[in-house]
Amino acid sequence: MCGIVGYVGPNLANPVLVEGLRRLEYRGYDSAGIAVMNGNGLETRKAAGKISRLEEELAASPISGNTGIAHTRWATHGAPTQCNAHPHVDCKGHIAVVHNGIIENSSVLRKQLEANGHKFVSETDTETLAHLIEEAFEGSLEDAVIDALQEVEGTYGIAVISSDDPDKIVAARKGSPLLLGIGDNEFYVASDASAILAHTRDVIYLDDGDIAVLDRKGYHVLDERSRRLSRKVSRIDWDLDQIERGGFDHFMLKEIFEQGASIENTMRGRLLDGEGTSKLGGINLSDEELLQFDNVVITACGTSWHSALIGEHMLEEMARIPVEVEYASEFRYRNPIITDRTLCIVISQSGETADTLAAMREAKNRGAFTYGIVNVVGSSIARESDGGIYVHAGPEIGVASTKAFTCQVIALLLFTLKLARLRNLSVVRGREIIEAMRALPAQIRKILDSAPRIEDLAEEFKDSTNFLYLGRGYNFPTALEGALKLKEISYIHAEGYPAAEMKHGPIALIDAEMPVVFITPHDSVFDKVVSNVQEVKARGARVIAITTGEEPALAGKIDYEIRIPPTIEMLIPVLAVVPLQLLAYYIAVKRGANVDQPRNLAKSVTVE
Ligand code: M6R
Repeated sequence: MCGIVGYVGPNLANPVLVEGLRRLEYRGYDSAGIAVMNGNGLETRKAAGKISRLEEELAASPISGNTGIAHTRWATHGAPTQCNAHPHVDCKGHIAVVHNGIIENSSVLRKQLEANGHKFVSETDTETLAHLIEEAFEGSLEDAVIDALQEVEGTYGIAVISSDDPDKIVAARKGSPLLLGIGDNEFYVASDASAILAHTRDVIYLDDGDIAVLDRKGYHVLDERSRRLSRKVSRIDWDLDQIERGGFDHFMLKEIFEQGASIENTMRGRLLDGEGTSKLGGINLSDEELLQFDNVVITACGTSWHSALIGEHMLEEMARIPVEVEYASEFRYRNPIITDRTLCIVISQSGETADTLAAMREAKNRGAFTYGIVNVVGSSIARESDGGIYVHAGPEIGVASTKAFTCQVIALLLFTLKLARLRNLSVVRGREIIEAMRALPAQIRKILDSAPRIEDLAEEFKDSTNFLYLGRGYNFPTALEGALKLKEISYIHAEGYPAAEMKHGPIALIDAEMPVVFITPHDSVFDKVVSNVQEVKARGARVIAITTGEEPALAGKIDYEIRIPPTIEMLIPVLAVVPLQLLAYYIAVKRGANVDQPRNLAKSVTVE
C-alpha cells in the first residue's frame, strides 16, 4: 500500500527520504517519487517500478535541498506509470502533494478545476489536491491545505510542500495513518514509523482531522478550523533490527521462525496459572460488564478473518456465548443485528485495514462495545476501539501474514479464558488450557526443525497448478489459511475446504495431478477425517497429511506425512499452520516468486 515520508531540517532531505521509502517497501507499491525544495523552487523525480528505478533517476539527474516529501504508490486511480506516481504538482509546479487514501469526489472536483483553467497531467485522484491547494493558496500553505480539504470527500494522509511558503511541510490525516517524527531541530512525517525510526523514536500519531505544520523551528497541530491542538508524544520501543531480516533470506521466513518467541510475547504477563484465567489490562470493562453481553460478532479480513473463525469455536465451546464471524467488507454494508449488548471483536494485524476499520465504526455507531485485537501499536483500530489487546507479534514485514495469525489465535484464547471463566469454565479446565499454551513455544520450535524436510516436499510439489487444503472443526480455518498462504505468495491456485464438504463439489477436481493437504490431528473428528482421506485417495490424489502421531488408520492412505506435537484441540491450528506456512514459503521460493512482496498485494489494505 502507499507510503509517505517527509523531512524538514538542516540535513539533505534526499538520503532521508530514499532510505525512508526503502523502509516502506514492504507495504507493497508499484511506483515511487520524491519532491525536494532546492532553494529556488520545487523539483520532483518519479519512476514506475521499484525504488532502485527512482534512485537511477536521481543519479542521472540529482536534486538537493533540506525539505522534501516522498511516496511509494500502489495504483488505485490510474495505471502504475511514472506520470501517475506521486508527488503531484499544481499548474505552476509550486506545490507538491503526496497522498495515501482515495479522494472519492475527485472526478467532480477535477471537472470544476478544469473549468477554472487547471491543467491535469495524470489520471490520479491525488492531482486534484495539488490543484485545489493551488486555488486556495493566499500565502500560507496550512491555510490553503485546510481550505482545500473542506472540498474533499474520501480518505487521506497527505504531506504537502510549496516553494511559495518554503521550508515547511503541511501534513493532514483523515482515515489514513500518519505520524510526525520529532528530532533535534529536524522533523519528519511518515505513514509508518519504520520509515523514520533510524532518526527518531519520538512520534506523534495524528488523529483524523489533524493538520500538522512542520518547519525547522518546530511543529504544531491544528484542527480543521486552524485551532491549535495538543498531541501526546509517544516513544517507540521496537528496534529497526526487529524489522530487518536477521540472517534469513526473506522476512516471511524470519517471521515464521519467530513464532515461538512472538506467542510468548502475546502471553507474557497475561496468564494467571493458578486461577486458570487471564489478566487483560486493556479490556476497559469490569467483570460485571463483561457478563452483560448477549452475543459476540467478530469482524476482520484475510488471515485475521481465519483467526476469527478459530475464535468463534473457542468462544462458543468454552464461554457458551453465540458468536458470528463476518468479513468486514460485507459487514459494513449489511444491516447487521447489533445492540448495546453486542461485543464486537475486531481483528487486524495492521490496525489500518479500511474495511475492518469501517466495520468497527459501524458496530460502534450501532451501540456495540468494540474490542480490538491488533498488532500495530498506535494504529487506528487500536486507538478507536473501546478496549483491546495488542498481540505483540512485533513488526510483521512480509506481506503474507504468519506470526500475526498465531498471535491472534493466542490473543483470542486469552480473551476466551477470561470470559469463559466468568461464565462457566471450570478452574481445572482453565489450568489445563494454560498448561497447553505454555508448551506451545517449544512445540513450534520443534516443528521448525523439520523445515529442511518441508523444503524437500516443496521441490516435489512446486510445479503443481492446484492444491486443495482440507480440515475439520478447529482445523477448517487452518485449511483456509494454508491455502491462502500458498496462493498469495506462489500464485498457485489453492482452495481450503471443510474436509467433508469437499464431497459436495470439489471432489470432482480430484485426480492424480491434485495434491491434497489434510490436517489430520488425533482430535475429536479424526475418524471422520480419515474417511475423507480415503475418499480422496481412492480418486488418485497425492495426499500430504499433518498428523500428531503414529496413525495406523492412515497407513496406505497418505503419501507424505508432516508430524506436529500433540496439544489440546483448540491449539492445534497454532501448530498445524506452521508447516503449511513453510510449505507455501518454500514452494514460492522455488518458483522464483517475490515472497515478501507478492504481486498485486499490499501489506496493509487501506482502500476499500
Ligand atoms: O492488517 P490486517 O490483519 O487487517 O490485514 C487483513 C488482510 O489484508 C491480511 O490478512 C491479508 O489477507 C494477508 N495478505 C494475508 O497473508
